[in-house]
Amino acid sequence: MSENTLHGGVKWQSPSNIALVKYWGKKPGMKQIPQNPSISFTLSKCSTETSIFYEESDRFGLHFRFDGKENPEFQTKIAEFLKEHLSDFPFLNEMDLNISSHNTFPHSSGIASSASSMSALVLCLLDIERVVNGEKKIDMKKASCLARLASGSACRSVFPKMALWGATDAFDGSCDDYAVSLENEIHPVFRSYHDSILIVSDAKKAVSSRAGHALMDANAYADVRYHEARQHVATLLEVLKNGDLETFCRITEAEAMQLHALMMCSEPSVMLMKPNTLRIINNLYEFRRETDIPVCFTLDAGPNVHLLYPDSDAELVERFIMDELERYCVDGTWIADHVGDGPSRC
Ligand code: PMV
Repeated sequence: MSENTLHGGVKWQSPSNIALVKYWGKKPGMKQIPQNPSISFTLSKCSTETSIFYEESDRFGLHFRFDGKENPEFQTKIAEFLKEHLSDFPFLNEMDLNISSHNTFPHSSGIASSASSMSALVLCLLDIERVVNGEKKIDMKKASCLARLASGSACRSVFPKMALWGATDAFDGSCDDYAVSLENEIHPVFRSYHDSILIVSDAKKAVSSRAGHALMDANAYADVRYHEARQHVATLLEVLKNGDLETFCRITEAEAMQLHALMMCSEPSVMLMKPNTLRIINNLYEFRRETDIPVCFTLDAGPNVHLLYPDSDAELVERFIMDELERYCVDGTWIADHVGDGPSRC
């Protein structure tokens, strides 16, 4: 490497996020544009660390390692994304990249890592662009927009605490191209909310998100769903301001149930809950009835259960998880995560 060759290294850690109002369905013929707005908590412990060593070269080159090993599946996904979007990262045309990535959550926890990994990747790339152009800061709006192109929900991971993605009349400045931060719009109770992720199955996703979104195109309930989701977003934005936890629980659980109901009535039908998912939910209903603690659940496109609760109730809920719910988790595994501060440069 000649001394004059531009080269260096960047490293970012970026979190996963859990949607409260779900993104499920894309506008046909458009680049990752959601059919309805969605809202999420940005997590803390479930994150991806990505580093890139870059070196000026006569063409674009890419080498990818995950957990220190070659990973052809991820390498292909990243190469396809970058080739398709080279015009968004023009400096890459003459750059050789060595990318290493690692998830901070257990390898086989069944947790989708595309939001954390794709947001970490985009932040690294924009950091290189920042150095190349001699700029001071990364534009987080641009980071969110490019992360969206890699994986829709990844656009929400670049903001701390909570984010909203998708145009809604209920929030000025919201749009379909990138997410906006809700950090300054939320009641203090949500700033330290807990998300305990109960690992019911550690198997790889049964249906890819891409295939899942596509099933919505022919789903008979699609229009009703998109209408409901828009109403849920409007109500939840109010709730996030006023801290009404009863309504928060009602909307969050309705969203999880709708996501799975939509999958069940797709053609072909998809069933992602497992018997232990239902056991956990039924135990939770009983615990909430007995204690009046505002703990609720949400589900991603899989069988694992996310229990959401305020910090003030953490001790009692965590005791309940250990006493009653751990038995339904693979090897008793659950991850005590919470709302986090967003991505950071390492
Ligand atoms: O970002 P994708 O394409 O992996 O889709 C995410 C879909 C859900 O996780 C089910 C919901 C959401 O809004 O995150």
